[in-house]
Amino acid sequence: MFLIPVLLLAIFNCGVFGRARWTEDQAKAWFNSQPYIMGTEYMASYAVNQLEMFQAETFNPDLIDKELALYGQLGMNTIRVFMIDLAYNIDPTGFKNRVNTLVEISAKYGIKPTLLFFTPSVIKNPTPGKQPKPDPGLVSSRWAETPSRDTLLNPSTWPQLETYVKDVVGTFANDSRVLMWDIWNEPDSPWFLNATEMQFLNQAIPLAFEWARSMNPIQPLTSSIFHGLDGVTPMIQINNSDVVSFHK
Ligand SMILES: *[C@@H]1O[C@H](CO)[C@@H](O)[C@H](O)[C@H]1NC(C)=O
Ligand SMILES: *[C@@H]1O[C@H](CO)[C@@H](O)[C@H](O)[C@H]1NC(C)=O
Ligand SMILES: *[C@@H]1O[C@H](CO)[C@@H](O)[C@H](O)[C@H]1NC(C)=O
Repeated sequence: MFLIPVLLLAIFNCGVFGRARWTEDQAKAWFNSQPYIMGTEYMASYAVNQLEMFQAETFNPDLIDKELALYGQLGMNTIRVFMIDLAYNIDPTGFKNRVNTLVEISAKYGIKPTLLFFTPSVIKNPTPGKQPKPDPGLVSSRWAETPSRDTLLNPSTWPQLETYVKDVVGTFANDSRVLMWDIWNEPDSPWFLNATEMQFLNQAIPLAFEWARSMNPIQPLTSSIFHGLDGVTPMIQINNSDVVSFHK
């Protein structure tokens, strides 16, 4: 007789479905509860890209501490930080510990990071280990695409992305030191992917949101719009976001 309620409870408790997308009222209440949100992207000055930032060989919490102390003094209260699946795949626990160290240092200075999962970028298929030198004068000259282009174009490899997103969001799901999750950076950017590749992206974005939301995060999910509202991709981003974010 009580088998069904118990089963239902089990399903809701373990978050198979996760929480629903926030309503407009929830989004407004969250926004109104924040201070004036001010910050920038943050890539530590020693790092040419996300791999150099987070790989065990180069991760440098002392320098991050010095830089974020300056941020705090300037009155910044958020940073937007690009993560990368490759660094997670090599050593999930080590990667999460390093992200936690960054979150911990940020908290010391009143900064709540926005943690970012995926982005199209310059190096389509990055490799771990030593990274190329920067191209002087060129912004983001060696940033790494994540997931790699090969992974994006091969959905049979996406379960690994699912593990990554669920594990990282799950680890910080109740952590008020984290401001937001940016699931996919500027996927509507016109520079990186052709029409065929965009179809894979448009399939992957809602899945990535679903994986993150299944962990019931207290933080809102977003995906930053870059190019405007034309085409299907920005609508996918908006339709899946708890709060909408955009870049100019
Ligand atoms: C977050 O907190 C809720 C309520 O206290 C709890 O049920 C849930 O298991 C926690 N989630 C994680 C990932 O720790
Ligand atoms: C678009 O990208 C796909 C996958 O990378 C590639 O096979 C195809 O040749 C590209 N098409 C054009 C027109 O560049
Ligand atoms: C987004 O949501 C709107 C309103 O529910 C719907 O009409 C539209 O088809 C959705 N678009 C996509 C790409 O999901």
